[in-house]
Amino acid sequence: MLGRLTLRHFRCFEQFETEFAPGMNFIVGPNARGKTSLLEAACILLRLQSPRITQLARVVQHGRRGFVTDGWHGTRHLQFYFGTERKKLALDSVEQTNAKEWLQIARVVWFGNDDIELVRGAAEKRRRFLDFVAMQRDAGYRASLRSFEHALRSRNHLLKQPSQRWREIAAFDQPLIEHGNYVSDARGKLIAELQCESDPAHHAISGTRESLRLEYAQGDGGDFAATLAAAQREDARLRQTTTGPHRDDAHFFLNDIIADDASEGQQRTLVLALKLGAARLMERHFGEAPLLLLDDIFGELDPQRRNALLAALPENSQRIITTTHLDWMPDAGDARVLRLG
Ligand SMILES: Nc1ncnc2c1ncn2[C@@H]1O[C@H](COP(=O)(O)OP(=O)(O)O)[C@@H](O)[C@H]1O
Ligand SMILES: [Mg+2]
Repeated sequence: MLGRLTLRHFRCFEQFETEFAPGMNFIVGPNARGKTSLLEAACILLRLQSPRITQLARVVQHGRRGFVTDGWHGTRHLQFYFGTERKKLALDSVEQTNAKEWLQIARVVWFGNDDIELVRGAAEKRRRFLDFVAMQRDAGYRASLRSFEHALRSRNHLLKQPSQRWREIAAFDQPLIEHGNYVSDARGKLIAELQCESDPAHHAISGTRESLRLEYAQGDGGDFAATLAAAQREDARLRQTTTGPHRDDAHFFLNDIIADDASEGQQRTLVLALKLGAARLMERHFGEAPLLLLDDIFGELDPQRRNALLAALPENSQRIITTTHLDWMPDAGDARVLRLG
């Protein structure tokens, strides 16, 4: 579990130190005191990635050159420095040349109050969620995704040149296909696993017999090599790679009806079930529940779903919950409460 956490030059925090307990933790305070930032720091420490933004430079406190997140997970000491010029990882005081061992230490599931965008928003939100889970589920995923994205960027760059040189462009097809197929395979398997875990989670939170189904809409139509070859003229005309996993999407169905038009309440329940599903599949796979970070989500839930969600969170998981007040929580029991502001 995550124990002590120290921050320096991280968003609104000049310097900050706190200690989390096993089980339930609350971070309580008015708006803009750094509650979400603190959760984000826990996520960045363990996964080197923010659930809110893609560029870690935005987390650096204004006017500073870099931030530090330093913390303990069990007996492991993780120290991460991120600067605009360099990054540094030290695990138990040993500097790391890559993040492989680091990323094996702990897993995280983030619940945010804008999660409803997973249903309502653009496909990119769904790909980001799938990638965030897949990187934790499968140790090879991160490198394959990076290699795919690199090949895609290079290929698109060449397609944008005034004169398109197809010998050079085609040189990226092989890595694009190889890594793209890895990414698609992993996303397809993940969606199948998520389906198995999210459907029962959905029953538990919604209290209905509505079924939840997930469907993977592959951006390459299922045979990337063939669709890439067939798309050559289209790619030349539009000056970009028009087929591939970067066009992947996922669709959600409630009782076999697409959830795009479901009510807001149904959509919120659906995304909670997806997140719980992700937590359960990680727990099943690694024999250990992930750290659950819940950012200000209880305000929008009616008491019935709030209690159902609290009851459905993996029992032996460490939970850190931000909230502006604790009135909704009838009994905080032996939870650790940290007040900000
Ligand atoms: N890079 C940054 N440097 C300095 N302050 C920042 C940075 N990013 C965000 N902030 C500020 O941090 C404060 C806390 O934000 P947040 O963690 O979202 O608060 P809360 O969740 O408690 O409402 C906000 O006032 C925001 O403007
Ligand atoms: Mg917040």
